[in-house]
Amino acid sequence: MKPAASVAGPAIVRLASVPSTQAIAFDLAEAGAADGTVVLADHQTAGRGRRGRTWEDAPGASLLASVLMRPRLEPRRLPWLSYVAAVAVAEALQEAAGVEARLKWPNDVLAGGRKIAGILLEARMAVPRPGEPAAAVTVVGIGVNLAPASVPAALAARATCVREAAGRDADRDALLAAVLAALERWRARLERQGAEPVRRRWLALAEGLGRPVRVGGVSGVAVDLDADGALVVDGPGGRQRVVAGEVEG
Ligand code: BTN
Repeated sequence: MKPAASVAGPAIVRLASVPSTQAIAFDLAEAGAADGTVVLADHQTAGRGRRGRTWEDAPGASLLASVLMRPRLEPRRLPWLSYVAAVAVAEALQEAAGVEARLKWPNDVLAGGRKIAGILLEARMAVPRPGEPAAAVTVVGIGVNLAPASVPAALAARATCVREAAGRDADRDALLAAVLAALERWRARLERQGAEPVRRRWLALAEGLGRPVRVGGVSGVAVDLDADGALVVDGPGGRQRVVAGEVEG
């Protein structure tokens, strides 16, 4: 007899208050946790943001999750996972919360021009078992502002939350389920078909293309995302590729 297909979802480790779900996900990875393991917290006391910044929240007012991945990707393709995550969060916000989400390079998620979610991709090389090749462990951290308390006062003009953007609350578990399903879908595409489908979807959701920007010391009009994931900026000195930085404008 054929064994019944498994319908079990990913392991979700639910925690109340932690320093950072990222750190816990890496600890679990070291202890051998499976690909797809999710760490979910109600509150973080030392939430990590991009470029060494902190990520603040108020207890119960955000979706704070880290997804452990052991991707089947060449190391040079790993950065595409941050675009995968941005696309997945934008699609999930639309589907599960009714938020019209757009993307700002590299992976901010916006609603009405203000940031509603942030993504942090961190990768480490796992210590290989004897006879096995070294492989990357990646943790995709996702923070979605659900209620106004999740937006620090200093960022109020530049950030928003689901309640404000959609005019109603979203169920945190339903939003998480939508995020995980979209992540799985887009990650599988990246692993099987390469970066192009992700690149196209990111471009379709992007906000700010065709507008003047200043990013990574380069000024000009943001015109494209190239095949290696760099932002292409058309400036006075011609087209330049930007691989890291913060978009101003
Ligand atoms: C950004 O700076 O925009 C990225 C923010 C990422 C925040 C999330 S919340 C869950 C996970 N745990 C962390 O410490 N950071 C990420």
